[in-house]
Amino acid sequence: MSVVVTLPTVEDTHAFGRRLARVLRAGDLLLLTGPLGAGKTALTRGIGAGLGVHGDVTSPTFVIARVHRPDPARGGTVALVHADAYRLGDASDPRAEIDDLDLDASVDDSVTVVEWGEGLVEQLVDAHLRVRVDRRDDDTRVVELEPAGGDWADRITALA
Ligand SMILES: Nc1ncnc2c1ncn2[C@@H]1O[C@H](COP(=O)(O)OP(=O)(O)OP(=O)(O)O)[C@@H](O)[C@H]1O
Ligand SMILES: [Mg+2]
Repeated sequence: MSVVVTLPTVEDTHAFGRRLARVLRAGDLLLLTGPLGAGKTALTRGIGAGLGVHGDVTSPTFVIARVHRPDPARGGTVALVHADAYRLGDASDPRAEIDDLDLDASVDDSVTVVEWGEGLVEQLVDAHLRVRVDRRDDDTRVVELEPAGGDWADRITALA
């Protein structure tokens, strides 16, 4: 069963990311899908704030994965690994490029959030949460959380 929320402004999206962060823990994988400019990075920024990690969550220009370490002063205990595989769309062997990021080395100890990673990173862990972000004509965003295995279905009920 999926959870669908409507987010009128970018502040609402940040706030939803912070709420989502409360149910997250080390070992989690979030697969963010949806078109360019939908708000995947904006949502990840809220998740980073909720987790209390260091550094601004941005759209990486060259780097495709960035580790944000927990900031104890902000209550952070777990790192956020934020990857954006968009630029791998043209790579001849995107899977090999993903392997080079060594996400499997950090996945157990971090919350891993991947944009444009469909078909590339699902095998990192047994279960993941699919997060679909869409932009409506009136510019509001709709976020759909779709559990894929594990206890995700139970964990997201609080977010409905
Ligand atoms: N309700 C909203 N939620 C999220 N972003 C919004 C909203 N309303 C407006 N925006 C704007 O839309 C843009 C979303 O950009 P963002 O980089 O988060 O998208 P993205 O899905 O990560 O795109 P890309 O696929 O290029 O990485 C930002 O400029 C943000 O300010
Ligand atoms: Mg982005």
